Amino acid sequence: MALIKTDDDQDIDGNTAYGGYYSAGSVEIDDELTRVGPGTPCGEYLRRYWHPVALAQDLGELPLPVRVLGEDLVLFRNGSGQAGLVHKNCPHRRASLEFGICEDRGIRCCYHGWLFDVDGTILEIPCEREDNEVARKVQATTRLGAYPVHEMNGLVFAYMGPPDARPEFPVYDICEMEGLEIRPYKAPFDCNWMQVLDAILDPVHTTFLHSQVSRQQFSEGMSELGELKFYERDDMRFMGTNTRRVGDNVWVRLNELILPNFTQAGAAFATDGTKSRYFGRSAFTRWVVPIDDTHCIAYAWANFGERGDPPEYNTDLGAELIEQGEPLIRPYEERQRHPADVEAVEGMGPITEHARENLLPCDRGISLFRRRVRRLIHELRDGKEPPQPTGLAEGTIPTYGSDTVLRLPNENGDEHAFLREANDRVMSLKLGSEAMPPRERDSHIIEGLKQLESGGLG
Ligand code: FES
Ligand SMILES: [Fe+2]
Repeated sequence: MALIKTDDDQDIDGNTAYGGYYSAGSVEIDDELTRVGPGTPCGEYLRRYWHPVALAQDLGELPLPVRVLGEDLVLFRNGSGQAGLVHKNCPHRRASLEFGICEDRGIRCCYHGWLFDVDGTILEIPCEREDNEVARKVQATTRLGAYPVHEMNGLVFAYMGPPDARPEFPVYDICEMEGLEIRPYKAPFDCNWMQVLDAILDPVHTTFLHSQVSRQQFSEGMSELGELKFYERDDMRFMGTNTRRVGDNVWVRLNELILPNFTQAGAAFATDGTKSRYFGRSAFTRWVVPIDDTHCIAYAWANFGERGDPPEYNTDLGAELIEQGEPLIRPYEERQRHPADVEAVEGMGPITEHARENLLPCDRGISLFRRRVRRLIHELRDGKEPPQPTGLAEGTIPTYGSDTVLRLPNENGDEHAFLREANDRVMSLKLGSEAMPPRERDSHIIEGLKQLESGGLG
């Protein structure tokens, strides 16, 4: 008997033919993992990390209203081009700074002209005389709420946590990879961040949503189910491999999540498994950032070039196809006929009900990372700061999202076992070189994969 817990805490039988009546009510939302506003347990946890909050190209001469982690904010540039991220409402009488004027030294409120620096300092209170004591006192004791900002490759990142817990800005190996052309993009989702993030550790959805069920949105090779394996490392890094047979080739596609919300995968269009590929890198380097409890935006760099996706996809539409296999905005009927990620995850509702899911072995990656996030949230509540990606290595942070395709025919023997063995060999090479300097690691892995291909598994 499958029991469902209802709001009033009764167990009812969810396994009755035509028994929709028994499971029609709503069950509890997993508040601990899904609520992100100030003061919530997960909101506190997420506020220990740098997050992208805007595309630099969207930030022009006018202030840009942005909403992040349930907070209404305004992003702006001062005269020297420095970006500031501040609370939306002016500390005088709450006018919105989205209507402020960007000036050399900061942003000026439209209502009575108070001027604010990027760090929230009140620089001027021009509506009172210079010698007015009350105004001087307010200026000395009050600030506009502000957050530190860091720009990189066309994305504007912010840290919204306690100033004394601010971590170093994390730089991933992919950011310094030679020959990659990068295109910043964003994809909005009208649902909770967790259900969007889940897809990265769900390699099976690629086979069904992106191939067999909707239509072939990436390549034919992806319609194969493959052998799955999940990895959990360092308290914050999760990986899922899907190893498929394509003719004489073995294709190991590796998706990764670095907590809380950094994601990479294999390429979207660069490989279909028919040609050898040695540690081809992720189609995107992407963060799923909560806007509030029921909205999120995936901010990303799409990666093009020999190690990324083909340069002809380096367009706005190409980035949307890389993100989810279909354009983001489509007629409803087309979304019904050929659903993609937006349809799958928004269709769950604004915040999906974890209590109503029935997780299977193929969902193991999702269980692992949810469990870990919950633990880190509890630890933070008890005073222990969560781990940072900058703690994973010296210098740039090694990442794994990739495709490897090797010609490895299986002359005789159990195909499942062969694919699992091939995956283990590829992964031990990748995991074993984690501590190497980035360039050395990269060539070591590529060389090792070529040797594995020429020597075979024997
Ligand atoms: S409300 Fe902003 S200066 Fe008065
Ligand atoms: Fe997807």
